[in-house]
Amino acid sequence: MEYEYIELSVEDDVGKITLDRAEKRNAIVPELALEVTDALERIEDEIRVLVLEGNGSAFCAGMDLEKRFYETRQEGPRAFYEAGRKTGSMFTTLFDYNRPTVAKIDGWTFGAGYCLQAVCDFAVTTEESVFGLSEINFGIIPGGGAMWAAVNTMNRRKALYYTSTGESFTGATAEELGAVTTAVPEDKLEETTDELIESLAEKNPIAMQFNTAVLERVRYMDFHEALDYERGKSEEMKYYQQDEWVDEGIGQFKEREYKPGLESYDE
Ligand code: ACO
Repeated sequence: MEYEYIELSVEDDVGKITLDRAEKRNAIVPELALEVTDALERIEDEIRVLVLEGNGSAFCAGMDLEKRFYETRQEGPRAFYEAGRKTGSMFTTLFDYNRPTVAKIDGWTFGAGYCLQAVCDFAVTTEESVFGLSEINFGIIPGGGAMWAAVNTMNRRKALYYTSTGESFTGATAEELGAVTTAVPEDKLEETTDELIESLAEKNPIAMQFNTAVLERVRYMDFHEALDYERGKSEEMKYYQQDEWVDEGIGQFKEREYKPGLESYDE
């Protein structure tokens, strides 16, 4: 597949997808969503970490409001449904991705763009970036995953506030809300993201996959269910690792080669 709306690169086990529709603030059209989904699937086996970013002044200004809501209306309900399905696949592919995903945010991030960063495992933003759940400003509610994104990245009071008022907020506030992993001054964005990528890439990749998947499941369980589930999943993970964690992770500790409280074992 040739890409028109994104750029794709793989370097040193790190995949990078850059939304490349800067003239429209990287607003999502179905073709862009299909390209992101295709790129994610294409590089999954060759990378250890995935970074998602946007060209120009936006991470992603949400759904392309004209094409998604105006033009598809002329084409009828079927076209409307199909457009939503393609965007939905991008979100679910990212959410279920078997590699850690990092949203690197430098600029406008609204609605579906907010959802895009929320389905990534980590989000690093500049303090000056501007976020918003702006749907109410044009008369609807966050849909297509954005309401989920709001209530799963901030507490109920704040999610209600920002979805009800449509008020925008800065990256610095997003960090205070817990809506992103971290917010940094603009000149530190590159360095902070690279440090996070390096830390994720050096971890055992099977443990990394299980960590995210198990965390997402146990959030919705009571303690006893979680205890059983975590035990089972831990054993499954160890089976796939073929005891590498004992041989190397514990082995290197036994030889006093590293301090696990402070650093990772050497893979
Ligand atoms: N959909 C379609 N086109 C868009 C979108 C969008 N979401 N966002 C920006 N654009 C277009 C603009 O219409 C403009 O096009 P034009 O050059 O043909 O006039 C171009 O991108 C540049 O936008 P400006 O508004 O001129 O850029 P500016 O930097 O001044 O403002 C901002 C950026 C604040 C992001 C503004 O464009 C905006 O409010 N966009 C809409 C944000 C939004 O509410 N998104 C929807 C979220 S809800 C959802 O996703 C379902």
